[in-house]
Amino acid sequence: MNLVLLGAPGAGKGTQAEKIIEKWGLPHISTGDILRKAVAEGTELGLEAKKYMDAGELVPDDVVIGLAKERLAQPDTGVGFILDGFPRTVVQAEALDGALADLGKSIDAAVAIVVDPEVIVGRLTSRRTCKECAKITTVAAVGPDGTCPACGGEVYQRDDDNETTVRNRLDVYERSTAPLIDYYRSHGVLREIDGDRPVDEVFADVVAALEA
Ligand code: AP5
Ligand code: MG
Repeated sequence: MNLVLLGAPGAGKGTQAEKIIEKWGLPHISTGDILRKAVAEGTELGLEAKKYMDAGELVPDDVVIGLAKERLAQPDTGVGFILDGFPRTVVQAEALDGALADLGKSIDAAVAIVVDPEVIVGRLTSRRTCKECAKITTVAAVGPDGTCPACGGEVYQRDDDNETTVRNRLDVYERSTAPLIDYYRSHGVLREIDGDRPVDEVFADVVAALEA
């Protein structure tokens, strides 16, 4: 199954990807995670990408298209994949379709998780992520000692999860990424899910949409 997870920042793409991986064991390809790793390692790519990420702007198309193509060419994607946060512009979606066509593949489903922007501001300013196991969690779920509820590791807050940057990320989403809803609808693979419900209810709808 070749999947795209669409949705605004904080819609729950990473959270649902964790559950899809548990159920179907597909490789998770998050361009945001790849870029954050490059930033943490201080590579040339990371130094360049950080300027855009800290401002809540998109990293240029040619850079992320190159990263995604490189990752999609790895052998573990033979069983399928979950793309999370890519594509994010129509240019990226067209490049993805071209790259997949060269490999004799195509997108089976684009799952769009829909959540009200004001709900998202609250979610993202209280998100925490585990440094050890990468679990996505919330400030309310971590212990008073700041440890991950899943593994007890240390959690951190993403640099782009402050309210000013979150609001810019939401504007960028509306301008550049929301048009992909129509793009995938016109390709007949769009599945829209109400993401403003408990995680497991959202996941039940994701499963139903993918098994339909
Ligand atoms: P990226 O890492 O892709 O971030 P994003 O799209 O902004 O999305 P998030 O990871 O913030 O949110 P999410 O939807 O994964 O939500 P999550 O599950 O964590 O991109 C970051 C940056 O990298 C971009 O701004 C850009 O600069 C660059 N970039 C990346 N890809 C790019 C590309 N293709 N092109 C150009 N630039 C690119 O959940 C959020 C919170 O909500 C968590 O605390 C979670 O516990 C909670 N939560 C989740 N689901 C629920 C629920 N159902 N109910 C209540 N709370 C929930
Ligand atoms: Mg994410």
